[in-house]
Amino acid sequence: MKVIKLDAIDSTNDFLKGLSQTQNMENFTIVTANSQTKGKGQMGSSWQTERGKNLITSILIRDTLTSIEGIFVLNIAVALAIIGALKKYKIPHLFIKWPNDIMAENKKIAGILIENSIKENGRIDSIVGIGLNVNQTNFENLPKASSLKNHMNLDFDIESLLESIVSEIQTNVEKIRNNETEFLWKKYTANLFRKDSPTVFEDQNSIKFMGLIQRVNSDGKLEILLEDDSVKQFGIKEVTMIY
Ligand code: BTN
Repeated sequence: MKVIKLDAIDSTNDFLKGLSQTQNMENFTIVTANSQTKGKGQMGSSWQTERGKNLITSILIRDTLTSIEGIFVLNIAVALAIIGALKKYKIPHLFIKWPNDIMAENKKIAGILIENSIKENGRIDSIVGIGLNVNQTNFENLPKASSLKNHMNLDFDIESLLESIVSEIQTNVEKIRNNETEFLWKKYTANLFRKDSPTVFEDQNSIKFMGLIQRVNSDGKLEILLEDDSVKQFGIKEVTMIY
């Protein structure tokens, strides 16, 4: 496994994407950085982290997904890998907030950004970007963000966390390759943040409503049981959870 350790970079995802497009990189090539100047988050947002305090990494996963439909499963595999690795450190109260935020109690401690590109042979290369807040304690203007240190009152070794996470990702990716995705789906559903708890949501028109998260369907859409007993499906841009 090749690990490229950088001090500062614009974005580890962009760096690894550039490398993978110009060179024949090994599967599971890993890039880490102490800091990013243009860290990217989901849906065009930015990802800010304090220098040297957190895990900033991108991992190249090739020849695992064979269709666009499989993309959500890779998100599940990575989210569960982070949860699995953190559970080995005996970290309690971890959840996955749909689609793939990692929560400690009701605060976000990690985010995942997977960028896929389809090659000429139809295979998909995925750049799996992970930002895990480890030893940072100050999250000014980010009231819903936290870190392992804030959650546990302990410092953590960033490199060994990376090793544990990569090993769990390899196990879960093997499951995707062997078509054993049912297990991943079940575990994902079991770890969903606020599943079956009455929750306030807001739709695209800023209308608030109550509902219960039931599950995530195979397209990655969130299924919510509404007050009139109907079940509605929402895509990622169609609903926000208020918590
Ligand atoms: C999110 O918005 O929740 C996803 C955040 C993903 C951040 C990571 S940090 C390493 C990698 N490089 C990036 O530019 N983004 C991802």
